[in-house]
Amino acid sequence: QRVKVSSRGHHTWLITGYAQARAALTDPRLSRDTRRFGHLFGDRRDIAPALRDSMLATDPPDHTRLRRLAAPAFTASAVDRLRPRIQQITDQLLGAIAPKGAADLINEFAVPLPVTVICELLGVPEHDRPQLRRWSNALFTTADAATRDQAAHHINDTMAVLVAHRLHRFETGAAHQGEDGDLLDALITARANGDLLNQQELVSLAVLLLIAGHETTTNLIGNAVLALLLHPAQHTAIADHTVSDSDGLVPAIEEFLRYDSPLGIATVRFTTCPVAFGPVTIPAEQIVMISLGAANRDPAHFTDPSALDLTRTRPRQGHLAFGHGPHYCLGSGLARTEAHIALTGILRHLPHLHLDTRPQQLAWRPSRMMRGLLTLP
Ligand code: HEM
Repeated sequence: QRVKVSSRGHHTWLITGYAQARAALTDPRLSRDTRRFGHLFGDRRDIAPALRDSMLATDPPDHTRLRRLAAPAFTASAVDRLRPRIQQITDQLLGAIAPKGAADLINEFAVPLPVTVICELLGVPEHDRPQLRRWSNALFTTADAATRDQAAHHINDTMAVLVAHRLHRFETGAAHQGEDGDLLDALITARANGDLLNQQELVSLAVLLLIAGHETTTNLIGNAVLALLLHPAQHTAIADHTVSDSDGLVPAIEEFLRYDSPLGIATVRFTTCPVAFGPVTIPAEQIVMISLGAANRDPAHFTDPSALDLTRTRPRQGHLAFGHGPHYCLGSGLARTEAHIALTGILRHLPHLHLDTRPQQLAWRPSRMMRGLLTLP
C-alpha cells in the first residue's frame, strides 16, 4: 500500500501482510543504512542521531561486526544470570503496589522494571535514570521535531559521559576486564576478530540498548495485563494455573506479543533497487515501513487473528513482534524473561486485579511505532 508522498517526491510504503512483511525483513535489497538513505526524509528526522552508528541503522558487513560484539551479553546463559535481580526488582515494585489498593501499573511497575534492569546492566547511575526515561519517552511521543532532537542529544551526551568515564578507567588501568561485571565493561573489552568498538560506536550501542531495552518491554507488560483484564475467563484460567506452575505463561507471552505487538511498526527500510511484492513493485529509493502489528493479525496466516487465545496453536512460522532476519531483536530473550517474571508476579501477588473503568482512565502512547499504554489504572 502506498501511503503518502514525502517532501521530496519519494513515496512511503506500508507493508501489512504477514508473508510480505516477513520477506521484507530479510530482503537484502531493503537497506537499514540511515546514513546512506536518511536524505529521503527531507527535513524530517529519521532516527535519533546517536543511533546512526548503531547496528540497527547499518547493513552487513558493518551490522554483522557490531552485532557480533554485543551478542555475548544477550545469550540465554547471560540472561539467566540476571533472573535473581529481575525477580528482586519485581518483588520490590509489587510489594509497594499490593497494599495500596489502587495503582497505575504502567508508571509504578511496567516502566520502572525494565528501566532498572537495563540501567543496572549498563551501569547508569540512579540519579540519571528518571531524566533518561523522560527523554527516551519524548523520542517516540513528542510531535515537535526540535524537542525530539533535544531529547536525543541529551541521551547521547549522558551516555557519552558514561562511556568516556569507563574508557578512561580502562586506559589508566583503574579497572580491569570483568571487574565490575556490567555490560558496558564487557563491551569495552569485547573482541571479535581483533575488532574493538570505537568510542562513538560504543556510545551508539549504549543508547540503542538503553532505548530498545525498556520502551518495548514496558509496552509488552502493559498490553499483556490489559489483554488479561479485558478477557476475564482467560485471566482466571491462567492465574489459577500460574499459582502452582508458571510454564503456561510461556506460550501466553507469545500470544500477547502477537495480539498487541509492542513495536507496532519496525524501523524503516529503504529500497536500493525496485523490489516486487506480489503484483506490486516498489521502485528504488523509497521509504518502506513494515507493520508488525498488522502482519501479526493477518487472517491469511493466523486463524481468527483478532481473538486473544492464550492456548493458540501457533503456525510453523510464528509472530513477527521481535522482527525477523538480520535485525531480529537482540534482546528477545531478556524481554521474554522480564515479561515472564513480571506476569508471574502480577498473577500471584495481585489476585484481585481489575481495571479502573472510569472514562478517560486508559490512554495509549501517541506514537506510530510504540504500541503501548501511557497509564493502566
Ligand atoms: C531490534 C522488538 C526488547 C534490543 C528489535 C526489532 C524489533 C524489536 C521488532 C527489529 C527492528 C527492525 O528490524 O526494524 C522488541 C520487543 C521487545 C524488545 C517487542 C520487548 C517486548 C528488547 C530488549 C533489548 C532489545 C530488552 C535489549 C536490552 C534490541 C536491539 C535490536 C533490537 C539491540 C537491534 C538488533 C539489530 O539491529 O541487529 N527489537 N525488542 N530489545 N532490539 Fe528489541
